[in-house]
Amino acid sequence: MSALILDKRQLAPEITLLEVEAPRIQKRWRAGQFIIIRPLAHSERIPLTIVDSSAERHSITMVIQAVGKTTREAVALEPGDALCDLVGPLGEPAEICTGERVLCMAGGVGVAELLPVARAYKEAGNTVVALCGARSDAYRILDAELRACCDELHWATDDGTYGFHGNVVQLLLSLAGPGSFAEGHVIGPIPMMKAAAEATRGWGLKLHASLNPIMIDGTGMCGGCRVTVGGQVRFACVDGPCFDAHEVDFDEMTRRNRAYREMEQLALRHECRLGLG
Ligand SMILES: Cc1cc2nc3c(=O)[nH]c(=O)nc-3n(C[C@H](O)[C@H](O)[C@H](O)COP(=O)(O)OP(=O)(O)OC[C@H]3O[C@@H](n4cnc5c(N)ncnc54)[C@H](O)[C@@H]3O)c2cc1C
Ligand code: FES
Repeated sequence: MSALILDKRQLAPEITLLEVEAPRIQKRWRAGQFIIIRPLAHSERIPLTIVDSSAERHSITMVIQAVGKTTREAVALEPGDALCDLVGPLGEPAEICTGERVLCMAGGVGVAELLPVARAYKEAGNTVVALCGARSDAYRILDAELRACCDELHWATDDGTYGFHGNVVQLLLSLAGPGSFAEGHVIGPIPMMKAAAEATRGWGLKLHASLNPIMIDGTGMCGGCRVTVGGQVRFACVDGPCFDAHEVDFDEMTRRNRAYREMEQLALRHECRLGLG
């Protein structure tokens, strides 16, 4: 089904928010779920987290970091254009506890993906402490939206231009330790999620990681999104995307996500002389 683009906003360099008309998804989605979009008829299908929705505008919002060919095709579209197709909501909603002090951690575009989870934790009666990381001040996104739903929000920037000087895991270690939180959620680049899991092992914290492996069909048929969790093979698209961070084999996930790097570079450079995209 195609989806009309209602609004487009640049949040930071290479990070764009798109609001699209999607009444059926807007009514059904829950925090942690994702969609698969195909921006143009010749585009690949890519997974993106549902960040927000509006019942009045019958819309959902996604935040896209332009990293390769398909994400660049998506962010080149303008309000009034339509995504060629969009399916969802996909995946299992995030597990949300009640009445706890919870940790919400994110890095990069993961900050946008964390927002609905932080809101769901708050609405369920938890005390929400958010730790967010960005390359520098100019790359911080959705600060006001997070402040509105978190009891505490702390930023780390790699270059020290805002908040804590360092990465978000170093920030966590400077603020907390074993017993500080009962539950938590981490979302961001694989090395950051791995470091968060290592840092909190033995803290007595149930930490959920929202995984972002390569996905193809998003329906559990192709096996492209295989991840090993607690020694068992799971499919992130139908069993996840959220799993126990302390049980995930992040090294294997890193190797699998790198498998297509060369083809991705070629896709970015490729110019079809037949004009097929
Ligand atoms: C469940 C899920 C939710 C996601 N939510 C978001 C989101 O809300 N916003 C967002 O910007 N991105 C999100 N991603 C990542 C997004 O799907 C990838 O960035 C996108 O597929 C890259 O496509 P491309 O053709 O532009 O780049 P490609 O040319 O395919 O890849 C360019 C670079 O991106 C890396 N890459 C490719 N696929 C992924 C991937 N799945 N995850 C991480 N890096 C990847 C490659 O290693 C490569 O270095 C999500 C991924 C998953 C699985
Ligand atoms: S993406 Fe194909 S099985 Fe998950």
